Amino acid sequence: MDTVDLLLAIFHHILVFSLAAVLAAEVVLIRNEMTHRTIGRLAGIDRAYGLVALFVIVVGIVRVFYGLKGWDFYVHSWTFWAKMAAFAAVGLLSVPPTLRFLSWKRQAGADTAFAVPATELASVRGYLRAEMMFFMLIPIFAAAMARGYGQF
Ligand code: HEM
Repeated sequence: MDTVDLLLAIFHHILVFSLAAVLAAEVVLIRNEMTHRTIGRLAGIDRAYGLVALFVIVVGIVRVFYGLKGWDFYVHSWTFWAKMAAFAAVGLLSVPPTLRFLSWKRQAGADTAFAVPATELASVRGYLRAEMMFFMLIPIFAAAMARGYGQF
Protein backbone atom coordinates (compact mmCIF):
# COMPACT_ATOMS: atom_id res chain seq x y z
CA MET A 1 0.00 0.00 0.00
CA ASP A 2 1.63 3.32 -1.01
CA THR A 3 0.38 6.03 1.35
CA VAL A 4 2.08 8.89 -0.54
CA ASP A 5 0.35 7.90 -3.79
CA LEU A 6 -2.98 7.58 -1.95
CA LEU A 7 -2.65 11.01 -0.31
CA LEU A 8 -1.64 12.61 -3.64
CA ALA A 9 -4.64 11.02 -5.34
CA ILE A 10 -6.98 12.24 -2.56
CA PHE A 11 -5.64 15.83 -2.73
CA HIS A 12 -5.75 15.77 -6.54
CA HIS A 13 -9.41 14.69 -6.58
CA ILE A 14 -10.46 17.21 -3.90
CA LEU A 15 -8.70 19.99 -5.83
CA VAL A 16 -10.06 19.10 -9.27
CA PHE A 17 -13.62 18.76 -7.92
CA SER A 18 -13.18 22.18 -6.26
CA LEU A 19 -11.95 23.59 -9.58
CA ALA A 20 -15.02 22.17 -11.32
CA ALA A 21 -17.27 23.68 -8.63
CA VAL A 22 -15.69 27.15 -8.91
CA LEU A 23 -15.94 27.13 -12.72
CA ALA A 24 -19.59 26.03 -12.46
CA ALA A 25 -20.27 28.86 -9.98
CA GLU A 26 -18.88 31.40 -12.47
CA VAL A 27 -21.01 29.95 -15.30
CA VAL A 28 -24.15 30.21 -13.12
CA LEU A 29 -23.37 33.71 -11.76
CA ILE A 30 -22.58 35.14 -15.19
CA ARG A 31 -26.16 34.28 -16.24
CA ASN A 32 -27.56 36.56 -13.52
CA GLU A 33 -28.27 40.25 -13.84
CA MET A 34 -24.84 41.91 -13.44
CA THR A 35 -25.44 43.92 -10.24
CA HIS A 36 -22.42 45.46 -8.52
CA ARG A 37 -22.80 42.75 -5.85
CA THR A 38 -22.63 40.00 -8.50
CA ILE A 39 -19.56 41.65 -10.05
CA GLY A 40 -17.87 41.61 -6.62
CA ARG A 41 -18.77 37.96 -6.08
CA LEU A 42 -17.49 36.98 -9.55
CA ALA A 43 -14.15 38.72 -8.94
CA GLY A 44 -13.85 36.95 -5.56
CA ILE A 45 -14.72 33.50 -6.97
CA ASP A 46 -12.33 34.06 -9.85
CA ARG A 47 -9.48 34.70 -7.40
CA ALA A 48 -10.29 31.34 -5.72
CA TYR A 49 -10.33 29.74 -9.21
CA GLY A 50 -6.76 30.91 -9.84
CA LEU A 51 -5.56 29.70 -6.45
CA VAL A 52 -7.17 26.25 -6.75
CA ALA A 53 -5.80 25.86 -10.29
CA LEU A 54 -2.32 26.60 -8.93
CA PHE A 55 -2.69 23.86 -6.30
CA VAL A 56 -3.99 21.44 -8.97
CA ILE A 57 -0.83 22.05 -11.01
CA VAL A 58 1.48 21.61 -7.98
CA VAL A 59 -0.19 18.42 -6.72
CA GLY A 60 -0.50 17.12 -10.30
CA ILE A 61 3.21 17.59 -10.99
CA VAL A 62 4.13 16.01 -7.63
CA ARG A 63 1.91 13.06 -8.64
CA VAL A 64 3.80 12.72 -11.94
CA PHE A 65 7.18 12.51 -10.21
CA TYR A 66 6.37 10.93 -6.83
CA GLY A 67 3.26 8.84 -7.67
CA LEU A 68 3.47 5.07 -8.16
CA LYS A 69 4.02 5.18 -11.94
CA GLY A 70 6.67 7.88 -12.29
CA TRP A 71 7.57 10.46 -14.95
CA ASP A 72 8.51 7.89 -17.65
CA PHE A 73 4.94 6.47 -17.69
CA TYR A 74 3.38 9.91 -18.33
CA VAL A 75 5.97 11.40 -20.69
CA HIS A 76 5.30 8.52 -23.12
CA SER A 77 1.55 8.88 -23.00
CA TRP A 78 -0.31 11.05 -25.57
CA THR A 79 -3.39 10.96 -23.33
CA PHE A 80 -1.30 12.65 -20.59
CA TRP A 81 -0.18 15.38 -23.02
CA ALA A 82 -3.74 15.73 -24.34
CA LYS A 83 -4.87 16.22 -20.72
CA MET A 84 -2.17 18.85 -20.18
CA ALA A 85 -3.18 20.58 -23.45
CA ALA A 86 -6.86 20.64 -22.42
CA PHE A 87 -5.89 22.06 -19.00
CA ALA A 88 -3.68 24.71 -20.67
CA ALA A 89 -6.58 25.64 -22.97
CA VAL A 90 -8.85 26.11 -19.92
CA GLY A 91 -6.16 28.29 -18.32
CA LEU A 92 -5.71 30.48 -21.42
CA LEU A 93 -9.48 30.84 -21.93
CA SER A 94 -9.83 31.97 -18.31
CA VAL A 95 -7.60 35.05 -18.83
CA PRO A 96 -10.02 37.36 -20.71
CA PRO A 97 -12.88 36.77 -18.18
CA THR A 98 -10.45 37.45 -15.30
CA LEU A 99 -9.39 40.75 -16.88
CA ARG A 100 -13.04 41.69 -17.49
CA PHE A 101 -14.10 40.88 -13.89
CA LEU A 102 -11.27 43.07 -12.56
CA SER A 103 -12.15 45.92 -14.93
CA TRP A 104 -15.89 45.70 -14.10
CA LYS A 105 -15.06 45.68 -10.39
CA ARG A 106 -12.87 48.76 -10.77
CA GLN A 107 -15.51 50.63 -12.81
CA ALA A 108 -18.33 49.61 -10.42
CA GLY A 109 -16.23 50.87 -7.51
CA ALA A 110 -15.69 54.24 -9.22
CA ASP A 111 -19.22 54.75 -10.57
CA THR A 112 -22.42 53.59 -8.80
CA ALA A 113 -24.29 53.86 -12.13
CA PHE A 114 -21.84 51.57 -13.96
CA ALA A 115 -23.56 48.83 -16.02
CA VAL A 116 -21.75 45.97 -17.75
CA PRO A 117 -21.93 46.46 -21.55
CA ALA A 118 -23.97 43.66 -23.22
CA THR A 119 -21.15 42.94 -25.71
CA GLU A 120 -18.62 42.38 -22.90
CA LEU A 121 -21.08 40.14 -21.03
CA ALA A 122 -21.73 38.05 -24.16
CA SER A 123 -17.98 37.69 -24.79
CA VAL A 124 -17.28 36.55 -21.20
CA ARG A 125 -20.16 34.05 -21.39
CA GLY A 126 -18.59 32.67 -24.59
CA TYR A 127 -15.19 32.22 -22.93
CA LEU A 128 -16.72 30.47 -19.90
CA ARG A 129 -18.67 28.08 -22.14
CA ALA A 130 -15.46 27.26 -24.05
CA GLU A 131 -13.62 26.70 -20.73
CA MET A 132 -16.33 24.25 -19.63
CA MET A 133 -16.07 22.30 -22.90
CA PHE A 134 -12.27 21.90 -22.63
CA PHE A 135 -12.57 21.14 -18.92
CA MET A 136 -14.93 18.22 -19.69
CA LEU A 137 -12.17 16.63 -21.79
CA ILE A 138 -9.72 16.47 -18.85
CA PRO A 139 -11.29 13.61 -16.82
CA ILE A 140 -11.73 11.67 -20.10
CA PHE A 141 -8.02 11.91 -20.90
CA ALA A 142 -7.15 11.40 -17.20
CA ALA A 143 -9.01 8.08 -16.98
CA ALA A 144 -7.43 6.84 -20.25
CA MET A 145 -3.97 8.05 -19.16
CA ALA A 146 -4.22 6.34 -15.73
CA ARG A 147 -5.04 3.00 -17.44
CA GLY A 148 -2.17 3.17 -19.87
CA TYR A 149 -4.12 4.08 -23.02
CA GLY A 150 -2.03 6.14 -25.38
CA GLN A 151 1.40 4.89 -24.38
CA PHE A 152 4.00 5.35 -27.15
C1 HEM B 1 -1.06 20.24 -14.35
C2 HEM B 1 -2.18 19.64 -14.15
C3 HEM B 1 -2.34 18.16 -13.83
C4 HEM B 1 -1.41 17.17 -13.71
C5 HEM B 1 0.10 17.25 -13.86
C6 HEM B 1 -2.15 15.94 -13.39
C7 HEM B 1 -1.56 14.70 -13.17
C8 HEM B 1 -2.25 13.56 -12.81
C9 HEM B 1 -1.63 12.28 -12.48
C10 HEM B 1 -0.15 12.00 -12.46
C11 HEM B 1 -2.62 11.41 -12.20
C12 HEM B 1 -2.46 9.93 -11.75
C13 HEM B 1 -2.85 9.05 -12.85
C14 HEM B 1 -2.54 7.63 -12.53
O1 HEM B 1 -3.15 7.06 -11.61
O2 HEM B 1 -1.69 7.10 -13.23
C15 HEM B 1 -3.86 12.12 -12.37
C16 HEM B 1 -5.09 11.53 -12.22
C17 HEM B 1 -6.24 12.20 -12.43
N1 HEM B 1 -6.38 13.52 -12.77
FE1 HEM B 1 -4.94 14.88 -13.00
N2 HEM B 1 -3.47 16.22 -13.35
C18 HEM B 1 -3.63 17.56 -13.62
C19 HEM B 1 -4.79 18.26 -13.70
C20 HEM B 1 -6.01 17.65 -13.61
C21 HEM B 1 -7.26 18.36 -13.78
C22 HEM B 1 -7.41 19.85 -14.05
C23 HEM B 1 -8.24 17.46 -13.66
C24 HEM B 1 -9.70 17.82 -13.78
C25 HEM B 1 -10.64 17.15 -14.17
C26 HEM B 1 -7.62 16.16 -13.40
C27 HEM B 1 -8.30 14.98 -13.22
C28 HEM B 1 -7.72 13.78 -12.89
C29 HEM B 1 -8.47 12.55 -12.64
C30 HEM B 1 -9.98 12.39 -12.68
C31 HEM B 1 -7.54 11.55 -12.34
C32 HEM B 1 -7.81 10.07 -11.98
C33 HEM B 1 -7.70 9.25 -13.21
C34 HEM B 1 -8.08 7.80 -12.90
O3 HEM B 1 -7.44 7.18 -12.08
O4 HEM B 1 -9.03 7.32 -13.53
N3 HEM B 1 -6.27 16.32 -13.36
N4 HEM B 1 -3.60 13.42 -12.73
